[in-house]
Amino acid sequence: MSDSDKSPYPPSGESRSTFEGHRFSDEGLQRKHAQLLREKEEPSEGFSPMPLFLVFLIMILSFWAGIYMVEYGGYFDAFHFDETATPGILVQDTGPQEVDMLALGRRVYSQNCAICHGADGSGQAGVFPPVARADWVQDNPERLIKVTLAGLAGPIEVNGRPYNNAMTAFGRLSDQQIAAVLTYIRTDPALGNNSYPVSPELVAQVRAEWGARRNAWTGPELEEIHGPVTGNWSPSNGSTPETAEE
Ligand code: HEC
Repeated sequence: MSDSDKSPYPPSGESRSTFEGHRFSDEGLQRKHAQLLREKEEPSEGFSPMPLFLVFLIMILSFWAGIYMVEYGGYFDAFHFDETATPGILVQDTGPQEVDMLALGRRVYSQNCAICHGADGSGQAGVFPPVARADWVQDNPERLIKVTLAGLAGPIEVNGRPYNNAMTAFGRLSDQQIAAVLTYIRTDPALGNNSYPVSPELVAQVRAEWGARRNAWTGPELEEIHGPVTGNWSPSNGSTPETAEE
């Protein structure tokens, strides 16, 4: 024993297993182990509780999100659009609020029409007719409503230039959205047309009469109903179907 206390090596002539046994029975080592066990905590696995402030933070955030959705969620209505909405409509519901038709129309235009007619309304030569500074746009609004509801196909002339292409139907837009987009292209100074606004009531009226139509309009068909495109049509000087035939 006295020999092994001094040398870390096994006494000569002993095998390795004996060495292990020898080390294990070493008093100094056992003392060290005892000390370690006493002073150091055993590492252990398990769940530690979430910090309390995090629980409160998540609760406060969920509460805030709930209030936010009620205030600004628009009742999750796809067609709910109100540029002038003020927060707190649930508390003081004053009925339908006035909608900024130009702002709504600009949005409807950029989402649905700009892809063909261009963001600036200038179209694409020979392919997509312009809506900026266009005789059609400043003509009878009912013609435009029909075009928007059911589409337009075949040869037409816009500003004296021929086009022979097809426009898709936008009947899925609401009366208000169609009125707004047509008001936008007819009156926004940026597009250079100088005409009067289109009301949702007029769109509803045309939809009631022609909403069932599925195939696109053609230029001649519309001309038969509304007369030729002049570009300065107004309800007072415009040709009604009756006067057009005279
Ligand atoms: C897929 C491309 C396309 C989209 C999208 C489109 N149009 Fe058209 N639009 C056309 C084409 C093509 C014509 C001409 C059709 C023809 O040649 O008979 C046309 C014609 C018109 C006309 C009459 C001619 C003129 O330029 O003044 C108006 C008005 C019009 N579109 C408005 C709209 C509005 C409003 C929208 C969005 C709601 C819209 N278009 C979306 C392709 C499109």
